[in-house]
Amino acid sequence: MPYLSPLDTEGDPEKAGGMATIIEHTPPYFVGYFVGSLSEQSVNRALARALIRLAPRELEFTEMVIKDLPLYNRDLDGHFPQVAIDFKAAIAEQDALLFVTPEYNRSIPGALKNAIDWASRPYGANVIARKATAVIGASPGAIGTAVAQQGLRSILSFLNAPQMNAPEAYISARPGLITPDGEVTNPATEDFLRAYMVSFFEYIERVLTVVPGPGRE
Ligand SMILES: Cc1cc2nc3c(=O)[nH]c(=O)nc-3n(C[C@H](O)[C@H](O)[C@H](O)COP(=O)(O)O)c2cc1C
Repeated sequence: MPYLSPLDTEGDPEKAGGMATIIEHTPPYFVGYFVGSLSEQSVNRALARALIRLAPRELEFTEMVIKDLPLYNRDLDGHFPQVAIDFKAAIAEQDALLFVTPEYNRSIPGALKNAIDWASRPYGANVIARKATAVIGASPGAIGTAVAQQGLRSILSFLNAPQMNAPEAYISARPGLITPDGEVTNPATEDFLRAYMVSFFEYIERVLTVVPGPGRE
């Protein structure tokens, strides 16, 4: 989708002789996804697989792997371990980030918070800033990770990441709702998740139009 960029003109079209630059953003759009659970049997990993299956084919997904990160320690800000350097570089390459997470004690799991802390540091090198984001999660309970998602939204706000506000998605994961390889057994849930990913695709496109990320400027 074309848009008029102030970037070459420092916001002043006169500086470009009255001309504005038109930048085309074309798919595919690159989406990094986080699974907040480390469990082999994770229902959220199954949900992530379902979302990828149902997403518009213009989206390309890469997992942002959180399980190998050590605990964040600011004493390492000057010399990050290689695993954290690679993790941040992988995030930086994405157009958008999708968080698929369980709720732990009415918050997000510590492993996910730890990963976000690495991504946000050292100060001034936060790679989550300006990424189009969406949050979703599944739990066996009736409220389907709603409280954890609110907490995650607060973190993403602080990190200056634009968030898809609607649709919200709180998945109450009854046994068998999603198979381990991401098949959704309930047609209404499948339709809902497909529509959610279409909305995310449209949201990514809008965010890239307004605040293009590094490499797209
Ligand atoms: C430490 C811990 C805390 C939990 N706290 C909550 C909670 O606050 N709300 C909730 O709905 N489920 C809670 N649960 C249950 C999880 O939703 C459930 O284990 C879910 O399957 C975890 O997601 P996963 O299958 O992707 O690992 C908790 C589970 C654990 C292990």
